[in-house]
Amino acid sequence: MTAIQLDPGWLEACLALDATALGGFWSSAQWLKELEDDRRICLGLVTGEVLIGVACGWLVLDELHITVLAVDPSHRRKGNGQLLLLGLLQRARQNGAIHATLEVASDNKTAIDLYARCGFRSAGCRKGYYRDGRDALIQWRQLDESNTI
Ligand SMILES: CC(C)(COP(=O)(O)OP(=O)(O)OC[C@H]1O[C@@H](n2cnc3c(N)ncnc32)[C@H](O)[C@@H]1OP(=O)(O)O)[C@@H](O)C(=O)NCCC(=O)NCCS
Repeated sequence: MTAIQLDPGWLEACLALDATALGGFWSSAQWLKELEDDRRICLGLVTGEVLIGVACGWLVLDELHITVLAVDPSHRRKGNGQLLLLGLLQRARQNGAIHATLEVASDNKTAIDLYARCGFRSAGCRKGYYRDGRDALIQWRQLDESNTI
């Protein structure tokens, strides 16, 4: 299992993973933007030639805005989500980020627990943030040298 920086050659694999893991979260154009933009980090977990997880984020000055974290359902509960998230935080810190932030649906317990294990704390709530009306928790963590990743 290897974590690699994804490039536009992985577009079809990202769309396939998006369909199985996220139920069609982003369009092809949105994935392409994520894979092409130099300010974005898009890490993929690959076994053989198959993409089984992704973690992406956008560097805005010294902040990493995490945009997606997803693992194929048949590869969950094996530590892959945590591996990807910590890999993304490390890359972001190497690129100058000192904070990381994300939004997570307030009923997504698995993801909230994973983020808490990786040092994230809630700092607010966006009411009705998602299309289906669910609230989003806004989460943050520091990435400075004194924190372990
Ligand atoms: C959230 C998500 C990325 C987690 O991926 P994952 O690979 O299952 O993550 P991990 O394996 O690192 O951790 C998940 C759970 O597996 C457990 N686990 C990890 N390794 C394990 C092992 N070897 N044996 C048993 N359980 C294990 C973890 O303790 C954790 O348990 P918890 O949910 O009770 O806290 C995945 O569920 C997913 O893609 N969900 C849909 C998309 C989503 O919600 N993304 C987040 C949006 S903000």
